[in-house]
Amino acid sequence: APSRKFFVGGNWKMNGRKNNLGELINTLNAAKVPADTEVVCAPPTAYIDFARQKLDHKIAVAAQNCYKVANGAFTGEISPGMIKDCGATWVVLGHSERRHADAGNGRVRTLVSLSLLLLPQGIDATWSSFNGRQGSVGHRHSFPRETAGYLLPVHPSTCDLCPTDNVKDWGKVVLAYEPVWAIGTGKTATPQQAQEVHEKLRGWLKSNISDAVAQSTRIIYGGSVTGATCKELASQPDVDGFLVGGASLKPEFVDIINAKQ
Ligand code: G3P
Repeated sequence: APSRKFFVGGNWKMNGRKNNLGELINTLNAAKVPADTEVVCAPPTAYIDFARQKLDHKIAVAAQNCYKVANGAFTGEISPGMIKDCGATWVVLGHSERRHADAGNGRVRTLVSLSLLLLPQGIDATWSSFNGRQGSVGHRHSFPRETAGYLLPVHPSTCDLCPTDNVKDWGKVVLAYEPVWAIGTGKTATPQQAQEVHEKLRGWLKSNISDAVAQSTRIIYGGSVTGATCKELASQPDVDGFLVGGASLKPEFVDIINAKQ
């Protein structure tokens, strides 16, 4: 059986202040993180540094978005190097809540959110693998219609994940499947619904990338995951973890971290 380490991401979205994040951070620091589970929290940009300094290192930190170049005249943006400099090691790219800003031409307007998390390692200076910002470059990986999902548009000559390209680092990618109707609505996909789509996504990876990539890439579910729904979802063979919004700000996030236990 493939060994895909269970992955639980907490997307804090645009929530928290220093004076109330402390309580959440204390709860997380006191929690037991199983050895076979990877936990990553994504605070708002302004609190990446703060969260990294306060959170125990059993929990990794992610940014919620990043721009594609190291430095320059890009007001309001944050680069992979800056994220790393603040001690974060992951970034969420292409979350559906960013697409109003990122997908100018609407190409990635879709029925589902398909977020990607990349380790900035190795792409310290620049990244271009998943350029969610410039949807006009005329190249994309598309998933089968029935999944209604798209990976973000990427530039054909610099796509790190294209099978034809030299650089292939799928090992550093986690795919998050989030049906938009389930995000923040309290309506969680059923375990069967999630499994069905995850299986299709894995099938897409197999036919478009490789069997090895399909077997090793973690595909996680997001959309109203709670302490009550996580265990059954986690028992599905192609559900390799979660990307949690609302419940990641509550003590029940600890239950979700332990969904496989
Ligand atoms: O990225 C996580 C997310 O969009 C799901 O949010 O609040 O439905 O768990 P929520």
